[in-house]
Amino acid sequence: MMKEIMSLKEILEWYLETGVDETCGSVAFEADCSLKEQKQISSVMQRQATTNLAQATGSAYQNAKEICAEAKTLDELRAKVEAFEGCSLKMTAANTVFGDGNPHAKIVLVGEAPGADEDRIGVPFVGRSGQLLDKMLAAIGLDRNSCYITNILPWRPPGNRTPLDSEIAVCLPFLKKQIDIIDPDFIFMLGGSAANALLNTAETISKLRGHWFEYEKSNGTNAMVLASFHPAYLLRTPGQKSKAWNDLLRLSSKLKEQKN
Ligand code: URA
Repeated sequence: MMKEIMSLKEILEWYLETGVDETCGSVAFEADCSLKEQKQISSVMQRQATTNLAQATGSAYQNAKEICAEAKTLDELRAKVEAFEGCSLKMTAANTVFGDGNPHAKIVLVGEAPGADEDRIGVPFVGRSGQLLDKMLAAIGLDRNSCYITNILPWRPPGNRTPLDSEIAVCLPFLKKQIDIIDPDFIFMLGGSAANALLNTAETISKLRGHWFEYEKSNGTNAMVLASFHPAYLLRTPGQKSKAWNDLLRLSSKLKEQKN
């Protein structure tokens, strides 16, 4: 009897048509396919997974933008972010960590993502990094009553892993909307991830820090942006604290200039 043989392409097309978009083992393929064929299959599946991720990220991003367009106040935005289901980080997080501080502040500080303490308590920068940040702010006469503090991501990445680009892309509208509602004159970015996301650059934090940039808010006016090292990095690398201190002094003198 003639054995009917389907080509690899036909097998994969058939799987996709019947709704199979995930594999949980490779035993059958290993037994029946050559190494070259296995590589072809895995490459097709990887491309399919990448396409699926891009589609999911694109629709979650659209959904985040729609939510942001509807929110008029920080409280409305907070409620909408808490109800948002488009970022898988939320599934492993204990709390949504929205912004904290003065909603009418002239300065907004932006970190990367909540850590374990922030996830437990639901407030940004309350752990060791937050304690250092509070001291840094106090050194130039600022505190949480004079600033607003938030993160690019409102949910803790499991084990504090580095956020994925797709996670940052989906959540960025939430940060931008907070900035639009608060309408600050200054934005102080804490660390490379935050600076890269808001300034839309891949430049290292060592190159970005200490220089002023402009960020255009939705009302057409600009906020002045300064980036510096993340407090967690300063805890690990105290030798860099003097550069962070220079950045704080730069920020402080601009704030004073604006008041006069
Ligand atoms: N690190 C951050 O970037 N944000 C926090 O809220 C806490 C630690």
